[in-house]
Amino acid sequence: MAESEKFYQNIFTSLIDGIFIISDDLKIIMVNQASEEIFQRSKGSFEGLFLEKIFPNQPKVIGHIRQAVVDGTPYHHMEAIGFRKSNNGYFPVNLTFSPIIKGRDERSTGVILIKDNTFTKELLEDSQQVEYLATLRTLSAGMAHEIRNPLSGIRGSAQLLLKDLQDSDQREYIEIVIAEVDRINRLVTKMMDLSHPSSENFNQTNIHQVLEEILALEGESLKKKKGKFIQVYDPSLPTIEANKDGLKQVFLNLVKNAVEASPKGGQVTITTEFNNNYTLRKINNALLTSNIVIKITDSGVGMNETTKKNLFTPFFTTKKRGTGLGMTISLKIIESHSGKIKVTSEKNIGTVVQVFLPINRK
Ligand SMILES: Nc1ncnc2c1ncn2[C@@H]1O[C@H](COP(=O)(O)OP(=O)(O)OP(=O)(O)O)[C@@H](O)[C@H]1O
Ligand SMILES: [Mg+2]
Repeated sequence: MAESEKFYQNIFTSLIDGIFIISDDLKIIMVNQASEEIFQRSKGSFEGLFLEKIFPNQPKVIGHIRQAVVDGTPYHHMEAIGFRKSNNGYFPVNLTFSPIIKGRDERSTGVILIKDNTFTKELLEDSQQVEYLATLRTLSAGMAHEIRNPLSGIRGSAQLLLKDLQDSDQREYIEIVIAEVDRINRLVTKMMDLSHPSSENFNQTNIHQVLEEILALEGESLKKKKGKFIQVYDPSLPTIEANKDGLKQVFLNLVKNAVEASPKGGQVTITTEFNNNYTLRKINNALLTSNIVIKITDSGVGMNETTKKNLFTPFFTTKKRGTGLGMTISLKIIESHSGKIKVTSEKNIGTVVQVFLPINRK
């Protein structure tokens, strides 16, 4: 091979973004090594594949590329969804198409540059989550305080009234007042939880012990539905620096949500492992062994787009007796651990909630 050809070959192999060389009927002719890593499939398995297989159900994207092939014009920064067979399937990508000026007898007509956008998107979402929580904290601290004081006045007076009442109907009404006041009180306590910085009480914590304590609590309600928990724990996980009570609150809510979403006979799987997300690894080697991930998977009702969008919005609930604060509080607690929560859900198929936690707090 000529020196210069080798040099170009090297560039092709070393690029960290994916490259597809495609034919004019939008079949893949050749890919570079980064494509193998991004899509988690072997080089050979790309050959002859239609682009639709890699970017499925996106007629607009495929249409743009087809048009660019016809016109011979480049197309920059097209947002698309890539598909990988293994793992969690779909992920965001950014595509740039450049036409290749054809030599004689050449089949290739274009190069597509593929950037995996997962990490960029996650960073953006993270910073939005943090900003949002700061506003929320100020708001809930003020409101909770203002609501609590008059409430104790109402409760006290109702109790005094109850002492003097003989009529059983009237007593019943006052008992309802007290019960409802107690309900508001519980809600306000939850709101106060949101406003307290929970940076105290960080100790070496065994995550499996936390999970087992929660399953002992939730096991009964899942048994009623004839469901079961499946635990897939990685026994080699170390203890992590964490606030045990905080994490218990988080996983209790997540497991409860999964159980509540599950049909009769449903199954909730809890997995723990080291976080080996390769996009994170590529950005920062240190992250490879310093994060663990706890995954809660249910085959329940799943979420529609509105629920997904409002999942962390306080008071958003689709349940009759839900407060809609569970996910908001969980996010706040995980954030105080410098961790993050990622949710993937399909309507009528199920939900996967992943909680990433650093082993040592930064
Ligand atoms: N695993 C899940 N499957 C389907 N939907 C879910 C799941 N987890 C959460 N949701 C949806 O998100 C909403 C908000 O959840 P969140 O835990 O914040 O509040 P809640 O469960 O409704 O109330 P609370 O936590 O106070 O009992 C739920 O009402 C439900 O619609
Ligand atoms: Mg909940």
